Amino acid sequence: MRQQQRGVTVWFTGLSGAGKTTICQFVEKELRIQGYRVEVLDGDAVRQNLCKGLGFSKEDREENIRRIGFVAHLLARNNVIVLVSAISPYREIREEVRKNIPCFIEVYVNASLEVCERRDVKGLYKKVRAGEIKHFTGIDDPYEIPLLPEVECKTNQESIVQSASKVLKKLEELGYILPNVNEL
Ligand code: ADX
Repeated sequence: MRQQQRGVTVWFTGLSGAGKTTICQFVEKELRIQGYRVEVLDGDAVRQNLCKGLGFSKEDREENIRRIGFVAHLLARNNVIVLVSAISPYREIREEVRKNIPCFIEVYVNASLEVCERRDVKGLYKKVRAGEIKHFTGIDDPYEIPLLPEVECKTNQESIVQSASKVLKKLEELGYILPNVNEL
């Protein structure tokens, strides 16, 4: 375990199915191998406990993001590297979280709606098209793309390893992790 590490929040935003969780899990594994203390806050998991009962209205999504941001801050100030994976579709609330958290890295996980829908990992887009789910991000609910993300992962053009490497490189560049001699 590394004795000295600085806390930081890495915030993955993007459409459902863009690859946020996959990249997050890869980065988490790599950081753990390198001996860093890491915690993951994933929208799907968080909505089963910390944010149970919240829906997908603008207000509820904002509340979800605020709570995640609050916990991320608590962890990061105790020198944990926090990886957040949440659609977080509204720019304003993302910026609010950025302002309230001292060390914040925004990662835009970018895949077009067509690609996400084609993947349909959780079968949700199919349900949306069948009219079983309403207010789904990217379809009949907004997604505001980040204007100046620290990292952009284009998951329809790059591999998971390439996307994860970009994130790790940024953490390295900003001095949160040491250069890794064993490149991915
Ligand atoms: S956020 O908008 O508040 O940031 P969050 O990332 O926590 O969303 O949760 C998104 C997950 O909830 C999706 O990956 C999907 O599995 C599920 N989900 C259920 N309904 C919706 C919806 N209407 N829009 C987006 N995701 C939904």
